Amino acid sequence: MSRKFTGNKLVIASHNKGKVREIAELLAPYDVEVISAGDLNLPEPEEDADSFLGNADIKARAAALASGLPSLSDDSGLAVEALGGQPGIHSARWAGPSKDFSIAMEKVEQALAGKTDRRAHFVCALVLCWPDGHAESFLGEVHGALTWPPRGEKGFGYDPVFIPNGYDLTFAEMDPQAKHAMSHRADAFRQLVAACFETD
Ligand code: IMP
Repeated sequence: MSRKFTGNKLVIASHNKGKVREIAELLAPYDVEVISAGDLNLPEPEEDADSFLGNADIKARAAALASGLPSLSDDSGLAVEALGGQPGIHSARWAGPSKDFSIAMEKVEQALAGKTDRRAHFVCALVLCWPDGHAESFLGEVHGALTWPPRGEKGFGYDPVFIPNGYDLTFAEMDPQAKHAMSHRADAFRQLVAACFETD
């Protein structure tokens, strides 16, 4: 039985504005005040685990201990099948110190040169951790294919090159609500809400 979230204040353990915005939008139907680790000036822990769930656990645990509040982290990324799952947990790192995702998307495209398999999936690990150290974890995915050149101005990160299966638009061309209905984050969120937010 999962532990229920019964408070009304939740820290989003991220300094990534795109992610914080999406998580706040996904939490909007629940009566929760959200505040980000960035707003609280919490230090960013080193993400040195070898999995999405491991890194999400590090971030949620650090924020819960530092803030004294339940904290929700999201560790996510793009896994490209023909690249053996890269950039994977290093998705943010591929954008370099300037966090320029046009560079990261170019790198993926260059690595795919000459390959016909353009399948990729996004992964999202969510961890909700309480200040006493108890944690609940969830893993979501969305599968699709990469397109080139990048298209669309919405979303963030690798959204302009990712087309989910069954659609013609990239995530960056879709309205946020359409992305929220099918994304890896939405998949993990549905599991989180069913386990920790819904009371019956
Ligand atoms: P981290 O989880 O903060 O280590 O970084 C994950 C990185 O994966 C982000 O900076 C994005 O580049 C990428 N990513 C995660 N989720 C999405 C998404 O929904 N759209 C596009 N890129 C994403």
